[in-house]
Amino acid sequence: VNLGLLSTARINDAILAAAEGVEGLQITAVAARDVARAKAYAAEHGIGGWYGGYDDLLADSSIDAVYISVPNALHIPWSMAAIEAGKHVLCEKPLSRDAAAVAEAFELATSKGVVLLEGLMWRHNPQTARLLGLIAEGTIGETRLVRASFSFPLQGNADFRLDPALDGGALSDVGSYCASGVRLFAGEPESVSALAVERNGVDVRLVAVLRHAGGALSQIDCGMDLPDRASLEVVGADGILRAEDAWDCARVGIDLVRPDGEAVFIAVENDDSFRLELENFAGVIAGRAEPLINAADTIAQARLLGCIAASAERGGAAVSL
Ligand SMILES: NC(=O)c1ccc[n+]([C@@H]2O[C@H](COP(=O)([O-])OP(=O)(O)OC[C@H]3O[C@@H](n4cnc5c(N)ncnc54)[C@H](OP(=O)(O)O)[C@@H]3O)[C@@H](O)[C@H]2O)c1
Repeated sequence: VNLGLLSTARINDAILAAAEGVEGLQITAVAARDVARAKAYAAEHGIGGWYGGYDDLLADSSIDAVYISVPNALHIPWSMAAIEAGKHVLCEKPLSRDAAAVAEAFELATSKGVVLLEGLMWRHNPQTARLLGLIAEGTIGETRLVRASFSFPLQGNADFRLDPALDGGALSDVGSYCASGVRLFAGEPESVSALAVERNGVDVRLVAVLRHAGGALSQIDCGMDLPDRASLEVVGADGILRAEDAWDCARVGIDLVRPDGEAVFIAVENDDSFRLELENFAGVIAGRAEPLINAADTIAQARLLGCIAASAERGGAAVSL
């Protein structure tokens, strides 16, 4: 797989490092809006090809797939353009907050015979698989409550995360992980209420409460004006599972707390989430793997993000999914 980078975003560093460990996949070109930046970036990272425009990358017939790391509002437009050009697409989260747009992108991908994968890398980490395994084994009994938090203090005013026109805001940025987490561990939600604090027209802090179809409740909080927090708690009838670094997964490990208060630490052998994500992407392209995050999952994720945003806009009014 010849992979092209569509932008010179900071997150590319994780993909460049991870790609070195993926057999049969190599990063062969990069595109930036500015040719000088693309050329300098290619030289700095040892990438053979560069383009001063994303369309030119998509027109390169030697490129099989693209990694899209532009600001959020541009994810669907550039994914659609790449799919139209016959490229497989790994697009950073959130693919969109519009479920219909995501469904349309998958329909186009199917008609073009290409793969579309949303880059929610935490799903590929072994800690996530271990949590799912512990729950499936009945370690904590029936799941009744899930709490997901992700926040950080955003520095400066120049970040696209503060621009409403580029789909900035805490929900799209870090809240995407929390939404993905409560869906994974509590099942699909049926209603949500959310409150947000806004700055510059974007949510800098947001809390949501959800009712899930299977009977569980969940709670999401995310923020860009708070200290670093990244925890996930799954509360069952017979115990609690907690991960303190649930999303970036730099320090993995799970606390299991029994109803009597006894606590056990469950060690997890870590791995590179981005390499595992790229391996899944390359495996699906080669027809030897199923996507860990499929079309239905990605559409449901966008639907939830859209409903959380709609509830926050209405001051916390309950929104049904
Ligand atoms: N999975 C993860 O762990 C993770 C972590 C961080 C971010 N992300 C996601 O990755 C994406 C990029 O985030 P980032 O923080 O790495 O971004 P960033 O460093 O701010 O870079 C964004 C890139 O988008 C391009 N761009 C195109 N149109 C733009 C516009 N109108 N305004 C600003 N930039 C524009 C720019 O590339 P050129 O100038 O080179 O064209 C720029 O390098 C986001 O969607 C974010 O949600 C994921």
